[in-house]
Amino acid sequence: MTAPHVPADLREHAEERFFGIINNPPDIEPHDTYRWLHANAPAFVTGSGMLILTRFADVEPALRRRELGRGKESVLNLTSLPPELIEPVMTRWKRTMVYANPPLHTRIRRRVAYAFGPHFVETLRDRVRARARELLDGLADTPGGNFMDLVAYPLGTTVLGDLLGVPHADRDRIMALALDAMKIFDPQTAAAELPACARAEIEQAEYFGALLAERRREPRDDLLSRLVAPADDDPLDEIELVATAANLMNAGIDTAPNLLGNALYALLEEPGQLALLREDPGRIPRAVDELARFDPPLNLNPRTALEPCTVAGFDLEPDQIVVSVQGAANRDPRRFSDPDRLNVLRDEGPSLAFGGGIHSCLGAHVGPLEVRELLAELVTGFRAVEPGGPARRRPGHNLRGFADVPLTLRR
Ligand code: HEM
Repeated sequence: MTAPHVPADLREHAEERFFGIINNPPDIEPHDTYRWLHANAPAFVTGSGMLILTRFADVEPALRRRELGRGKESVLNLTSLPPELIEPVMTRWKRTMVYANPPLHTRIRRRVAYAFGPHFVETLRDRVRARARELLDGLADTPGGNFMDLVAYPLGTTVLGDLLGVPHADRDRIMALALDAMKIFDPQTAAAELPACARAEIEQAEYFGALLAERRREPRDDLLSRLVAPADDDPLDEIELVATAANLMNAGIDTAPNLLGNALYALLEEPGQLALLREDPGRIPRAVDELARFDPPLNLNPRTALEPCTVAGFDLEPDQIVVSVQGAANRDPRRFSDPDRLNVLRDEGPSLAFGGGIHSCLGAHVGPLEVRELLAELVTGFRAVEPGGPARRRPGHNLRGFADVPLTLRR
């Protein structure tokens, strides 16, 4: 089969624009580029052989394709680590759910899925709501305080800490280690910083190794205790247990806070939309889906071809990388009407904010629960919710979010 024809000069320009949004300073919005790609080069292959997809109709099935799995796309950065640090970090990374392909992926995911399903997550609601209220009250006493530091990260850390069963006294340290460990995978992390990030990953693994041993001796009502409980079929080994505990922490530590931050910022920019939620808080669940569509923390979803296959009309060789730009698919005018407008009443079906296929986000119920409970507290507990100064985006396109969202609340 022949690949869809994209003229060379158009392809080069598409590639330049695409890498521009990955490498650009934080204040450059990607949406102009998404619009341009949708109109001019919705699917194209870069000079180095990466297939870039931006159309919803291409991205959604690509995420479900079994021939597209995990491979070299996620370890490109690891190769720049010093050799003595590559081995321990890589050994664990290869045995995480995020990296693994079936059958290992299926084994690990099956062991933890119950704690992330809608029924279990629902049991967290009251605690999430109470913690959101407590944190918002704290921020109300500090007009113009940074929502990310005062509310979003502490709320995310509480939820993950409670779910996994990380003791309160250790949570700040574990959050800091997780954030550093995740930097290993950000192409924008300077080479000089990488060894410290790898050491954070190693310290985190030692911590979870010791905590898992403690839970094995004295089980509690938490996910880590369930993980180490004797399993009758195919139990995880020690490396897989530690890798899974750390991976759950790492996958949620930055994503949920940035979904909270992006959602709040979008509503501060559109006070009319926030007013719709204040008018009827019953609109909040649908609004959360829309907020995740509008500005998801993860815009890119890379996979590797595990075998020859044809995707969006392009013939792929094994090892070729496919980047599904789910942030662009969420703004595809062929899929969503007036896609660049935030519309909390939108009812047009799911977006791709949480990915798709076998690697779809395990936190796809927990993350939205945090946003729902926080918005419910904001609109019922505070008569004014206003920007407390200019917001500042964080650098990098790997995870799109904010460093600072100043907020002023009045009771
Ligand atoms: C408590 C919060 C969260 C936890 C514990 C969590 C956990 C995970 C895990 C374990 C995976 C890998 C699943 C697998 O490979 O089988 C994953 C994937 C993913 N998560 Fe989350 N997540 C959280 C929040 C979020 C949020 C808020 C977003 C964005 C709105 C998000 C977006 C994604 C995406 C896009 C993927 C990749 C899906 C794919 O490859 O198709 N996550 N998450």
